[in-house]
Amino acid sequence: MNIRLFKPSLGEAELQAIQGAFDRSWVGLGDKVREFEKEWSKFVGCKSSLGLNSATAALQIAVQAFGFTPGKKIMVPSITFAATAFAPIYNDLEPVFVDVDEDTVSMSLEDMERKYTKDVLAIIPVHYAGHPAQMEQILSFAKAKNLKVIEDCAHTAGANYHGKTLGTWGDIGCYSFEEKKCMTTGDGGMMCSDDEELLNYIKPARWLGINKDGWMRYTSDMNAEKANAYHWHYEISLLGYKYNMNDLAASIGLAQLKKLPAMNQRRSAIIRSYMDGIKNLNRIKPLLPFEPEQYVYQMFGVRFQERDKLILFLKSKGIASGVHYFPLYKHPYFRQWENDCPVAEKIWTSFVTLPLHVDLSDEEIQYILEALAEADKMI
Ligand SMILES: Cc1ncc(COP(=O)(O)O)c(C=O)c1O
Repeated sequence: MNIRLFKPSLGEAELQAIQGAFDRSWVGLGDKVREFEKEWSKFVGCKSSLGLNSATAALQIAVQAFGFTPGKKIMVPSITFAATAFAPIYNDLEPVFVDVDEDTVSMSLEDMERKYTKDVLAIIPVHYAGHPAQMEQILSFAKAKNLKVIEDCAHTAGANYHGKTLGTWGDIGCYSFEEKKCMTTGDGGMMCSDDEELLNYIKPARWLGINKDGWMRYTSDMNAEKANAYHWHYEISLLGYKYNMNDLAASIGLAQLKKLPAMNQRRSAIIRSYMDGIKNLNRIKPLLPFEPEQYVYQMFGVRFQERDKLILFLKSKGIASGVHYFPLYKHPYFRQWENDCPVAEKIWTSFVTLPLHVDLSDEEIQYILEALAEADKMI
């Protein structure tokens, strides 16, 4: 056995979609990006979306959109991927590491209130593994303190939380289409918001700050009726990067988006099998209060005190596993922002991420469950 931890589910539909981009001979930022943005807005139920080359880029320019004064602070959970905490740093702001909730591993509301100071201007909650952060409470705190909220939705895609899709609760939501995520474009990301003006303002930042992309100039300004339009002319009014999504990625994204509801259902079914399979184990417990009927999860994991032994045992059986994540402030780079996070310290040492991907077979799940049962008794 050789069971991967994550694996994208790609096939004929994606190949045909790429073929289409080849046939049109437009593989850069073009009409397919636009089409994917529209479809994404429909899918999550927001007014406007912006296609990027990663969620890291989305988070960075989401922070940029608000024009915060350098040196101020943004609160992020202490257990997350580096991209969440880099977003403020890229913008000359400081991350404030907030402790996590013991059960859900999302931002602790109590610690958020405790660590708040007047220098804090925004919060980036993460829906850890896909489990929703407590958005009502976070938003009401943000409203009281006049803070912006950027949702890091890298681990979820399309989950409905109390009547609204995750990613549409805050001012901006950022999704990832990197290869391990709920759906993929190879690498890719999407920013979404109901504030069309805000997204229009920040849109040029994804392409060097240029206010007209190549597709716009090709389709609109080159039009014969606009003979006098300066099709070559553009303006740069804000700091920009090379962060755009391209038509190859968007073509794959459109094909994946069609499959996403079915892929999400398969993920839920796998999590249900895992939960049923481990419910009678004595020491191995689910990492989160998973609700696969309600939410969309990119990761599944367990908690086990003998974590490292379990990881080695699974490896001996050909089962890949992981740890998501150790508290960010433990990395040498982030140490300068270390602060007190006793819950994160206590819980992260028991985390084990297990294989979760759409093409995982029922036999493979059974094999993993048997290995877990053996480990629960033996280690
Ligand atoms: C919580 C979180 N935020 C952001 C990202 C960044 O996503 P991307 O790889 O698309 O830049 C990731 C990627 O794993 C993530 O796990």
